[in-house]
Amino acid sequence: MAVAVKKRNVFQISIFFGILTYSNGDAYPYQCIREIKEEYTLPTLPYGYGDLEPYIDEATVKVHHTGHHAAYTKKMNVALQQWRNDPVEGVTIKNTNHLAEKSILDILKEIEEVPQKYRKALTNNGGGFVNHNIYWSVMSPNPENKERLPREPLLSDINKNFGNFSQFVDIFTKDALALFGSGYVWLSRNPLDGNKLLVSTTANQDSPISQRFQPILVLDVWEHAYYLKYQNRRPDHISEWWKIVDWNVVEKLDNWWKDIPQHDEL
Ligand SMILES: [Fe+2]
Repeated sequence: MAVAVKKRNVFQISIFFGILTYSNGDAYPYQCIREIKEEYTLPTLPYGYGDLEPYIDEATVKVHHTGHHAAYTKKMNVALQQWRNDPVEGVTIKNTNHLAEKSILDILKEIEEVPQKYRKALTNNGGGFVNHNIYWSVMSPNPENKERLPREPLLSDINKNFGNFSQFVDIFTKDALALFGSGYVWLSRNPLDGNKLLVSTTANQDSPISQRFQPILVLDVWEHAYYLKYQNRRPDHISEWWKIVDWNVVEKLDNWWKDIPQHDEL
């Protein structure tokens, strides 16, 4: 039922904007960022609020999703609606290639082209929506604390770029510890540099997508992601978080980007 509603919404948007889009019906939150929507919805998590225990506690996941992520989603939708309906900057002039008509993924890619009056709202809330969609996707329950490692060919790529998997974890962890204030640590591919992997950080809700990177793994190091359980012990949160990274999804996300043209025009 949920999928049918989703497809109907996408179809309505396709008429509204006069262009075709699609919905592939998959279950991971990151997938909807490519869809062109009149209004984005807070994605359902692919696990229950308590399922990431004991690494991330139920109360934190719940407030993070229903409080923080929901607020970014709502404010992003407001900004998109205001921009699209703006008599000067909006899409009412039937410009079929107007940036406001595109997906939030494409808008973040072209964030410097967003009119000044909407850029901050979409950087913060569009970024907040997209960054969290990726964050929720790359984790999954691991109640038996089984060891998790990336498979080939991603593992070889990590080894090639960072020396070995352990060194990659060290680099990523050090960046997460050193990040001052609120932000994220990412593993991304850089299509402008031979699709090499790189670790980078972003402040606030800035997204590496705006740097044209293709993120495949992310750790949210805002205090709202861990403070209820870990308080000021960010190092403990980070070491526990590695246990719930789902490398199968990271691999899916890596492949997902390969299907997306640099300019996502349909
Ligand atoms: Fe967050």
